[in-house]
Amino acid sequence: MKLLKRLRNFLSKIYFILKYLISIVNIHIKETILHDKLDNIENKGLNMLNQIKKVGIVGSGFMGRQIALWIASFGYSINLYDSNPEVLKKAESFIVKALQRKNIDDPQGKVQLISVLDNVATNAELIIEAVPEDLDLKIEIFRQLDRSSSSTTILATNSSSFPVSYIEDSVIKKQRLLNLHFYPPIHERPMIDIMRGSETSDEVFNQGIEWIKSIECYPLVVKKELMGFVFNRIWHTVKKECIHMWAGEYADIETIDKAWQIFTGMKMGPFQMMDGIGLDVAYSVEMSYYRESGDPKDKPPKAFEDMVKNGELGLKTGKGFYEYRRRLK
Ligand SMILES: NC(=O)c1ccc[n+]([C@@H]2O[C@H](COP(=O)([O-])OP(=O)(O)OC[C@H]3O[C@@H](n4cnc5c(N)ncnc54)[C@H](O)[C@@H]3O)[C@@H](O)[C@H]2O)c1
Repeated sequence: MKLLKRLRNFLSKIYFILKYLISIVNIHIKETILHDKLDNIENKGLNMLNQIKKVGIVGSGFMGRQIALWIASFGYSINLYDSNPEVLKKAESFIVKALQRKNIDDPQGKVQLISVLDNVATNAELIIEAVPEDLDLKIEIFRQLDRSSSSTTILATNSSSFPVSYIEDSVIKKQRLLNLHFYPPIHERPMIDIMRGSETSDEVFNQGIEWIKSIECYPLVVKKELMGFVFNRIWHTVKKECIHMWAGEYADIETIDKAWQIFTGMKMGPFQMMDGIGLDVAYSVEMSYYRESGDPKDKPPKAFEDMVKNGELGLKTGKGFYEYRRRLK
């Protein structure tokens, strides 16, 4: 009898252990099926990307407003956002006046001012981020956009130096990420670098290329991740040499600019261009290359750093490498 009782106890323990193991396997199978289903839905979603009609722009400073104006003049409507309401208002007036000069229908109706970041995603099929060149800030913006936008909305950064893969950890659906890098002034340099993140889908990449063509710009297709993309990489090498020649007192800024102008036939030299872009932007871009390579030769010279610390930021502050009578508003 005792033996039978023990055997029954033993078998009932085995029964419960087996039942437990089967339930775990079942949960795992159900989860796998669910994940496969979700993946299918997501991939289907990406295969059925919506036609781009509305574009959200985050950051309405020097670049954001130019990008908005250029896109709006091709008939796209814009959701325009900036964390600084004054900047946003100025950007609106800049865009609307320029659209009026171009005789574009309903300039006011083309641009919708947005006061809360989450709302920039409303009805937008593409969002372009153009906030300052600060990786942590961009990561935070993308984290918020990931939450507020539809899963088929393409999210792009206009960063001058950061590959979108630096930002992608903040986004759950990484297939929809792009670098879309504009070159100002856009009407004189109608070309845009397009680069993918580590998981960007072919559909998103191809749609990006077609969209660039739709706004009459040339897509500079970057085939493999590269900091600085196509032209900026070339431009970085030029700038670095010029700044080191100036800081090492080998030649004056006027001489270097003149050499460039005569040789290339361009209207402006590298120092004039850096003043126009803003020396804070130029400096932080150079620092990004330095951080990437770790090569001391890439480190911006102290004289350049000092100018930025002293607020000599170029055209926008009235003094940079050159002095200006009028500040850029
Ligand atoms: N300046 C250039 O020539 C140039 C060229 C190509 C790409 N870029 C890139 O474009 C981006 C913007 O550069 P920019 O020259 O227009 O800078 P900018 O300083 O003129 O404009 C940035 C704008 O972002 C706003 N902003 C700051 N924090 C914000 C936030 N949390 N949310 C929303 N808006 C915020 C600021 O108020 C400002 O108006 C940078 O990543 C830069 O590398 C610049």
